[in-house]
Amino acid sequence: DAGHCAVTVETRSGTFGFDCATGETLLYAGLAHGLTLPHECATGTCGTCRARVMSGDVEVAWEEAPGAARLKRDKGDILLCQTRALGDCVLRVPSDVAERPARHEIPAPRLGVVGNVKQLTSDVVHFEIALTEPMTFDAGQFVVIEAPELEGGRAYSMVNYGRDLDRLELVVKRKPGGGFGDWINGPLASGANVKVFGPLGRATFHPDEGHDLLMIAGGSGIAGMMSILSRGVRDRYFEKRKAKVFFGVRTLADGFYLEDFARAIEAGGGNVEVTLALSHEDAGRLDHPEFPTVKLAHGFVHEVAGQAMAGGYDNVMAYIAGPPPMVDGAIRSLIIGGVGRSAIRYDKFG
Ligand code: FES
Repeated sequence: DAGHCAVTVETRSGTFGFDCATGETLLYAGLAHGLTLPHECATGTCGTCRARVMSGDVEVAWEEAPGAARLKRDKGDILLCQTRALGDCVLRVPSDVAERPARHEIPAPRLGVVGNVKQLTSDVVHFEIALTEPMTFDAGQFVVIEAPELEGGRAYSMVNYGRDLDRLELVVKRKPGGGFGDWINGPLASGANVKVFGPLGRATFHPDEGHDLLMIAGGSGIAGMMSILSRGVRDRYFEKRKAKVFFGVRTLADGFYLEDFARAIEAGGGNVEVTLALSHEDAGRLDHPEFPTVKLAHGFVHEVAGQAMAGGYDNVMAYIAGPPPMVDGAIRSLIIGGVGRSAIRYDKFG
């Protein structure tokens, strides 16, 4: 049935209302209305979008979502990103909410077609989505993609950025037993119609802020960093400011974007530094004749970054993206190093 529900949200900063189609996710409907509802991953892993159902009927799409593990379900707690309204309802959200996002385009649902699927390493794939309606997004933002054969959405950061773009460039790392990663590599992906919700994410780069940049990424989390780097190069940001990128992969063979890094380092004229942190590489193999400007180090990326920075965090804005344990490790080592929370922007992709 194609009904509409009236959703009321009571928040710390007032009460708001929005319309939600039956079957539409509460978080997406609220965000598309312009409300700044709390969220991070938008896909059920982080638990940030917690809310309480005060009245009305809802339906939970993914009961076992990792982000729901600590909810008080008997009190009516839900994840907004995993719940749909079945009728009019009243929700309570335990945070401040504003009616317009201050800085970013209001996210909206769109349709797109998958194309240009390219293998970057044995388990990393580049792909693009041609959008039916253009999108404006900042360097560092992401979208949630729903593929026809798969349950639920996956979050991916764009490698590109810009105004009114009709093409998203993305990168996905295949995981064992791996849903979207396997699908995008399979025979059904090219030319497939997908649903896209976005742009999302506040781990964005704004040149007018004038910070030095520290970027710590694992796996496909590097996508957002690539868009930040290319924006910095385009805006000649690195003539005045520094950027240090730490990219964690298992072995040298798992590294990608090396050519792009080498180009950014050259364009940065000494102000851009990239270190590949190798968690599982043989101790003997630390030279890299093809891309000599990219540094190599042994260890987990947040440890390598912490040691290399050695407390030199003045005027730094840190960007972190990758699997949740890596992101948590990186946030911890920055806070121990004396970095304030307001100088850390991150995305966790489960
Ligand atoms: Fe809903 Fe992360 S935003 S669980």
